[in-house]
Amino acid sequence: MAKTACTVPTTQIILDEDIYPRKGVSLKRVSMFAENMRDGFEINPIEVQIHPNYDDKYRILDGAHRWHAYKEIGATEIPVHIITLDGLDPLLYAAKKAIGPLQLNEEEARNTARRAYQDNPLLTSYEIGQAIGRSRRTVDDYIADLKATFQLDLDLKIFRMNRMVIPQERIAKRLGVIQRTVSNHLEKMAELPNFLNADLSKGFTVPQVAEKHGWAEPLVWSIALEGKSDLDRFKALNWGLRTWDLWNWNDCDKRFGDDWPGRIPAQMIAHILYYFSDQNDLVFDPMAGGGVVADTCLAFNRKCWSFDMDDRPDTRPEIEPCFWDITNLKWPIKGKTKPDLIIFDPPYFKKQSNNYDPDGISGLSKEKYLKFLKSFFALAHSNAKKNTQMAFINADWRDFQNTPAKNETRINSILINDYLWILNQSGWQETHIFQAPLSSERFKANVVSAMQKRKIIGVTSRYVIISKKK
Ligand SMILES: C[S@@+](CC[C@H](N)C(=O)[O-])C[C@H]1O[C@@H](n2cnc3c(N)ncnc32)[C@H](O)[C@@H]1O
Repeated sequence: MAKTACTVPTTQIILDEDIYPRKGVSLKRVSMFAENMRDGFEINPIEVQIHPNYDDKYRILDGAHRWHAYKEIGATEIPVHIITLDGLDPLLYAAKKAIGPLQLNEEEARNTARRAYQDNPLLTSYEIGQAIGRSRRTVDDYIADLKATFQLDLDLKIFRMNRMVIPQERIAKRLGVIQRTVSNHLEKMAELPNFLNADLSKGFTVPQVAEKHGWAEPLVWSIALEGKSDLDRFKALNWGLRTWDLWNWNDCDKRFGDDWPGRIPAQMIAHILYYFSDQNDLVFDPMAGGGVVADTCLAFNRKCWSFDMDDRPDTRPEIEPCFWDITNLKWPIKGKTKPDLIIFDPPYFKKQSNNYDPDGISGLSKEKYLKFLKSFFALAHSNAKKNTQMAFINADWRDFQNTPAKNETRINSILINDYLWILNQSGWQETHIFQAPLSSERFKANVVSAMQKRKIIGVTSRYVIISKKK
């Protein structure tokens, strides 16, 4: 913890309710401080920290009454100590300071304990108790319900990630807990599937069981389908199996993956898994988006490690944050573990680019986008096993906006042969190309009619290119 003494304009200091442990200020104390100030008594500087959301503001850690008093006497500048907390919880720091002159009352102590725990559930009752001047057991009482909800949430996250066979040390790191916590939870949860199986054997459906227990549906499928063959899984999910190389579905199955720009049908992932992997194989999912690959792997008993630059620790803990940086590409798995199958579904160049983070690869020029893919393929190649296969999903990109078909040029387009070329240059050889067209139903009739009149060709081509190492 560091401290810098200086003076700061009164207008730059604010009292932030989020980190103020008391219910209000005592007007009597404010008047007492104001009187002392007018009489020239020396007053300790108030403690502030730089506001996390506003660069030019400071928020009070200790000294709310003195700050009110300074304002009352019309001071334009206030002597402060600017504190750098180095990871200490600001609310608890403020509470510890507040109880120096006067203990928190019951309501203030309870509220502060609950707010601190909600902000950071990894705080112990002892740590909270130390800051608010209460015993560990009292804090336990204050936060019992919050703790139970957090434990249940943590149980489910660990259970889900373990089901994908993510190593315990990775789970621990991702959830910010120690590895022992993960193994303790897993021991405790060994019985968990029994409750679900009991309901399923009574005839409840998977969605009913998922709703009853508050579990995500793919997780319940993974239990309901345990021990079944892939074909039985297709049947249970009501998905017909395609035998030919044309894979088209009208819609994404909403049971798998989140509503996400560029969401792909889980049926397509299931087909890739069925034809190009076996149960218990490890699938690597480098640009996971809404989690369709992870969810489908759960239902088809594949291990799955997913990554994306978009970090959603609460809803998608199994998708590890990972930014594939074109200037410094690094493989996020250390050690000997190598995937059996890579399912790579990047943004299709500029398609949906308005909905993706501009720092992602859809923000790149055509040249850089292709360069990125080439470097990624090469990196994947050097981190893959001899028999690893890669399913690369992409669509034709044609810069057809307002251009009649016969006037189109190749300057701005990226077509399948461009992808095949860079795959080959980076050590991969395609074995299959599946046509998995995008749905054309999303176009409005008037748009289609205008395109037809102007002889403009739209794009629905999407491909799944399967490659092996050369
Ligand atoms: C087409 S979406 C994946 C959709 C996913 N298959 C689904 O069905 O939900 C592509 C993803 O790539 C991610 N992405 C783009 N550039 C990235 C980068 N440089 N590093 C990591 N992720 C990136 C985006 O955040 C986006 O979620």
